Amino acid sequence: MANDHGDAGTPSGQAAHIGAHGHGARLDDATGTHTVGHEWDGIEELDTPLPRWWLMLFYTTIVFAIGYVVVYPALPGLHSASPGTLGWTSRGALAAEMKAADAGHAATRAAIAATPVEDLVRNTPLMRAAIEGGRAAFKVNCVQCHGAGAAGSKGYPNLNDDDWLWGGDIGAIHQTLQHGIRYPGDDATRASQMPAFGRDGILTAAQVQDVVSHVRVISGQEPASASATRGAAIFAANCAVCHGDAGQGNRLVGAPRLSDKIWLYGGDRATLTETVTNARGGVMPAWSQRLDPVTVKMLAAYVHSLGGGEAGPQADAAPIAAAPAAAAPAAPAP
Ligand code: HEC
Ligand code: HEC
Repeated sequence: MANDHGDAGTPSGQAAHIGAHGHGARLDDATGTHTVGHEWDGIEELDTPLPRWWLMLFYTTIVFAIGYVVVYPALPGLHSASPGTLGWTSRGALAAEMKAADAGHAATRAAIAATPVEDLVRNTPLMRAAIEGGRAAFKVNCVQCHGAGAAGSKGYPNLNDDDWLWGGDIGAIHQTLQHGIRYPGDDATRASQMPAFGRDGILTAAQVQDVVSHVRVISGQEPASASATRGAAIFAANCAVCHGDAGQGNRLVGAPRLSDKIWLYGGDRATLTETVTNARGGVMPAWSQRLDPVTVKMLAAYVHSLGGGEAGPQADAAPIAAAPAAAAPAAPAP
């Protein structure tokens, strides 16, 4: 068809300028609308006006665009856009949002600062905020020694379990964090020093092996033996004062429980021999010297939340305080 009729047969073709513009325009009887005057093989184009709603929308967008250019930054300049009468900038909007967020933070931090750490545990929304803050601070300050998951490693205790050297209620954890452990720069630091029994000649090498045998027996790693029996006497004389008669440990001096399978340094014979011969004396910095008090509190909340957190003496105090009221109705019974 295209070949037969040439370009005259394509109404929308580029070559369709048959009727000159305006020439031949007339009123179309069927529609009552003027034609534009173009004609292709008897096919004419109607000059239908644009729908009113469409035109209104079109003009509205123009008015809107002009208004937008006036009030918002719009026209690009060499260094910045035209400022706009509102003075709005995306940087300004960000700064305002940051300020609002900071104000929210400041309120939370003030509330944490005003709450004794023992009471924090009971104030659940505040505790939750503190835990989140502590989680962030832990990633910055603590992971290098205690590991990303706080699981610890040789010499650095696991903070997820309920095996505590110095105590696992939030008050004890807070105290540990504030003043550190054997930290020379803090007078209130957690301090205790296991003697270097071998190096200082308190025990002979053979006696060290005997007491190691005893430790391996009470930790369930070795059957009873003559060496362990001799070691039990050495333990009672030299070790029980800190580790307890049965090796149950003592938090007052940070002496680990020896009767379980959780080890700070290790429970194999070589490691135990090294520990008893030379002692260890692990050190943790006093965090109140490096971090602000609210952050230290939040860290205590976070560590307490890790799974091994214990209810403190304060939590025990709550039922005691309530006891008189509870006792009152019971009194007339007998
Ligand atoms: C330089 C290494 C180091 C860093 C950093 C460090 N710790 Fe420690 N932390 C230790 C050592 C070592 C011990 C165990 C000391 C001991 O033998 O009693 C310890 C013990 C602890 C304890 C006591 C655990 C218990 O069983 O009583 C807590 C709680 C603790 N760290 C929390 C933290 C937190 C929170 C941070 C970050 C603010 C942190 N530590 C950063 C080395 C570190
Ligand atoms: C003055 C208190 C004290 C005395 C006495 C003491 N210890 Fe300790 N012991 C500690 C402390 C504190 C630690 C914690 C580790 C550190 O120093 O970093 C420890 C750690 C240990 C560990 C490491 C446990 C682990 O989980 O890796 C072993 C084992 C141990 N002691 C055995 C002994 C034996 C055996 C004796 C007696 C011969 C003894 N201790 C006497 C305070 C004491």
